[in-house]
Amino acid sequence: MAKQQIRLKVNGETYEILVEPYITLLEALREELRLTGTKKGCDLGDCGTCTVLLEGKAVNSCLVLAIDARDKEVTTVEGLAQGGKMHPLQEAFIEHGAIQCGYCTPGMLLSAKALLDMNEHPSEEEVRAAIAGNLCRCTGYVRIVEAILAAAESLARRGNG
Ligand code: FES
Ligand code: FES
Repeated sequence: MAKQQIRLKVNGETYEILVEPYITLLEALREELRLTGTKKGCDLGDCGTCTVLLEGKAVNSCLVLAIDARDKEVTTVEGLAQGGKMHPLQEAFIEHGAIQCGYCTPGMLLSAKALLDMNEHPSEEEVRAAIAGNLCRCTGYVRIVEAILAAAESLARRGNG
């Protein structure tokens, strides 16, 4: 099949790339744009390591064709820090020891961001539901949940301050 020229908008930057129609968004991000923060785990939609935001919604980028993301806003973990400063979620993950091997972390951060963008004051149950599609083999999830709740508080304080 012929390659297609598409425009991807990732983390506020616009890229024009030529892709095969069957290339996934995950492959386009990692292999065409060299944005390797988004991780490939199962490549089947089961593990959530490839989670990115597509128009603000958390999606498994291994299940989205790159051509279906054309002209849409994509946010990857590389887009979380602003002006050289980490996002409050990233700070909280470090402070709460929510990272061990770190392989699940980019996907966790983006699932958490999608939640906090919609719900400033999530309950623990809502946090657990938001990251239900993100598997972690290391942490037992407790510290990840604590970190997300702490980041929600920190963001709410900043919003009010
Ligand atoms: S790599 Fe996409 S869900 Fe596992
Ligand atoms: S920290 Fe290792 S998989 Fe989550």
